[in-house]
Amino acid sequence: MTAKVFLATNNAKKLAELRRIIDEQGLDVEILTMGDVEPYPEPAETEWTFEGNALIKARAGAAHSGLMTVADDSGLCIDALGGMPGVRSARWAGRGHDDLANLELVLAQIDDVPEDRRTARFRAVVALVTPDGREFTFEGVMPGRIALRPRGLGGFGYDPIFVPDSQSLAGRGLALTSAQMTPEMKDAISHRGRAIRAMMPTLAGLLKKLPSWYDEDDFDDDDDDDDIDDDPAGMADAIIYYVE
Ligand code: IMP
Repeated sequence: MTAKVFLATNNAKKLAELRRIIDEQGLDVEILTMGDVEPYPEPAETEWTFEGNALIKARAGAAHSGLMTVADDSGLCIDALGGMPGVRSARWAGRGHDDLANLELVLAQIDDVPEDRRTARFRAVVALVTPDGREFTFEGVMPGRIALRPRGLGGFGYDPIFVPDSQSLAGRGLALTSAQMTPEMKDAISHRGRAIRAMMPTLAGLLKKLPSWYDEDDFDDDDDDDDIDDDPAGMADAIIYYVE
């Protein structure tokens, strides 16, 4: 039996990245998305942390779908803006504004900040929630700098103004923004790629138990069940930082 995992996101670009990165891991899972489940109200992202908002989204998805659910919350943290836009990244220019408006606002807000102080990082927390209430979170970080002007058409969001630190050895003017990278290049170093890869041992461990608990309507909540290693990789609730 191929197990099902629900990716709870309405962001098509983010979904494409999540799906691609999970697919690359070669696990035998069928990925379901919003279009595969009955519509349900998007939960309000009321927390002030990536972890809190990722859990809100994954809990809502698991409660609604009855499936093991993965959701992420992510954003761009700019040192010169005290870590903002952070959890407000998607709505930085206000509700109803698009990625371009967000990115232009950020550039305007730091237009007097010199290149060596334009340090920033993308952060993503991926939450994995099971229908029987187990919760795990994993964090990935991609450090970098804010470019002086946008470059590149790939990716989404703030990618055209973000130069990952892994590009720092490229000559001046040659360093790629994450919007100029191929999807594979970005996945290999991205906050989301790192968080998903950190999650995989736990997801794989949970999937191994599926025949014993995923098929049944009443989940086995008995923590003494020796067949179930609740934390196969010892990473439950771990916050995992990857620094270049
Ligand atoms: P949320 O996680 O849906 O609340 O929104 C995350 C927001 O952060 C996105 O809408 C983007 O503005 C930004 N963001 C997160 N990850 C990336 C990325 O990989 N590239 C560019 N922007 C991103």
